[in-house]
Amino acid sequence: MKPLVIVTRKLPLEIEKRMKELFQVRLNSDDHLFSREELLTAVNEADILVSTVTEKIDADIIASSGPNLRMIANFGVGVDHIDLKAAAQKMITVTNTPGVLTEDTADMAMALLLSITRRVSEGERMLRSGNWKTWSPTGMLGMRLQDKKLGIIGMGRIGQALAARARAFGLSIHYHNRNRLDDDVEKKLGATYWESLDQMITQMDVISLNCPFTPDTHRIMSKRRLALMQPHSYLVNTARGDVVDEKALIDILQSGAVAGAGLDVYENEPNVNPVFFDLENVVLAPHMGSATEEARYAMGEKVLINVKTFIDGHSPRDRVLAESY
Ligand code: DGY
Repeated sequence: MKPLVIVTRKLPLEIEKRMKELFQVRLNSDDHLFSREELLTAVNEADILVSTVTEKIDADIIASSGPNLRMIANFGVGVDHIDLKAAAQKMITVTNTPGVLTEDTADMAMALLLSITRRVSEGERMLRSGNWKTWSPTGMLGMRLQDKKLGIIGMGRIGQALAARARAFGLSIHYHNRNRLDDDVEKKLGATYWESLDQMITQMDVISLNCPFTPDTHRIMSKRRLALMQPHSYLVNTARGDVVDEKALIDILQSGAVAGAGLDVYENEPNVNPVFFDLENVVLAPHMGSATEEARYAMGEKVLINVKTFIDGHSPRDRVLAESY
């Protein structure tokens, strides 16, 4: 009898096809969001759960999982929606899909950065609504990127990939990270390390959040830190909504205490605070940093390999340990 793999969301076709060949699998063909009851049933029946960021697998869900549940193979790199400690206590192996969505997420951060500083979405809204009357010497002025300073919070894979892109646009690279990068990496990226996040924030023209969401980074851009940003500066978030105090961000966007924000992630997804919709100085994307054909296929491949490795009795390469997250 093959182990039962329950997949919470619809995955790329080729991945689902291969899953059917390899495992006894229960797919979600209409891609509906699992209710809490469905999630409880799934963790009770499955040997392996393939989850995504849309399921909150908290301590209660894990506590009520059945004796067969041995693995949660997450389709995605962030695992902040899974209670890793509770999983470890029940000897449930958790894996993720690092490395294969780096470039795509960095592209999205760059796209938001360009879009907000050059007012691309705002211009499109104006044009589509029929309000563009003429070219104007003083209309739709944004901020030039050349020679400006980008401060990256979280200089892991994605932060570094963003740094490489931003350099090509003439931005100087600054970063704050748990650990300072090796000399050669700093040199390659032309990156300046700031031990003090507060000090870095006060000097930057653009701040980009690229850190994982952990207890340490919860609202790392707090109300106090947001207030340290320069009035002409911008915030870009492709990490997780919870790394920013969203209410405080709305306040400073409304008051003009910062110039704007490019956001791909929100505190309470998919329920985006509707106040954002009335603000001209934000670009809003629906959590699509890794949304390319290539990334989603590669993420699926990683899930397949992680699950197969585990079933074959080996330790999957992308195992996430509670203590290192
Ligand atoms: C990730 O991989 O973490 C993406 O944000 C989707 O979960």
